[in-house]
Amino acid sequence: MKIAVTGGAGYIGSHTVKLLTEEGHNILVIDNLYNGHREAVPDNATFIKCDIRDIENLKEIFNEFKPEAVIHFAAFIEVGESTKNPLSFYINNVSGTLSLLSTMEETGIDKIIFSSTAAVYGNPKTVPIPETEPVKPINPYGQTKACVEKALKDISQFSNLKYVSLRYFNAAGADPSGLIGESHNPETHLIPLVLKTAKGEREQISIFGTDYPTPDGTCIRDYIHINDLAKAHLLALEYLMSGGESNVFNCGYGKGYSVREIIDMAKKVTEKDFKVVEEKRREGDPAILVADSKKLKSILNWKAEFDDLEFIIKTAWNWELNRRF
Ligand code: UFG
Repeated sequence: MKIAVTGGAGYIGSHTVKLLTEEGHNILVIDNLYNGHREAVPDNATFIKCDIRDIENLKEIFNEFKPEAVIHFAAFIEVGESTKNPLSFYINNVSGTLSLLSTMEETGIDKIIFSSTAAVYGNPKTVPIPETEPVKPINPYGQTKACVEKALKDISQFSNLKYVSLRYFNAAGADPSGLIGESHNPETHLIPLVLKTAKGEREQISIFGTDYPTPDGTCIRDYIHINDLAKAHLLALEYLMSGGESNVFNCGYGKGYSVREIIDMAKKVTEKDFKVVEEKRREGDPAILVADSKKLKSILNWKAEFDDLEFIIKTAWNWELNRRF
């Protein structure tokens, strides 16, 4: 299949592109390289540097490549940053996606897989969280993703558009090949920061909040290995291409780890001890986000292959020690 992937040079995008090319698909990566890395795109995928808001350029690209579907990763992703600069999140995540959707409509592309997030649930009442849980984000990042989900629902109801929205829990780890991995600048995610501390690049790791209503007082997240998450995109694509209806799926393992548990596992994997300091809560953080992923398993036939925190952190550590970008 011919697939256009926006944000395909980013962390989740590049792991998905690697899998899709290995499966024999013809991939065009569209990325403005604001956060992505050109080196993360495999040689057998085509790369074009373009911003999704550049409608004229995007139209030309789509008319030439003629993708059968779009996988749309390109977005700002940091919860903390979204509370400091919400407007830029609306411009990039909402306005950018609307530009993409209008270009898709103009060029006759009617299938999209959208990168959504567990952050749309805010502080959910039911844990593990089913997709039926009300969408009530508590930070601007989650709001922008919820906005796009609403738009997709409305547009698909009254046009040919079919979409799958994948609500990611916490993507983690790296491809075991060591060729690609997580690389944000600045890095704000827990696992890479803990590993940089183990490596000696940082003096200490901060725990943001120790007074959450969780067993050890720190936030709990559902860390899903990046290749299991990439696989969900492949299955979602196959689902849409075989006539599946628009749908929303959680992507996670249904198991959560606290910030302290992540730090302890990182100490075990790296065999390093390092300084841990307790700080106040980071704005916008929900206490617990753990997925109910029954729907992903039953409808898309997804199976977790790397559901093992030690393995996840080992692959991230391997990447951290031998990063290419
Ligand atoms: N944390 C720390 N110290 C740090 C960094 C993070 O204690 O130095 C804590 C955070 O407060 C949070 C947890 O570790 O409780 C995980 O934080 P991350 O920044 O790694 O990830 P988030 O849960 O904030 O967000 C990630 C993605 C979002 C996605 C969300 C879904 O960045 O895009 O997972 O759960 F929406």
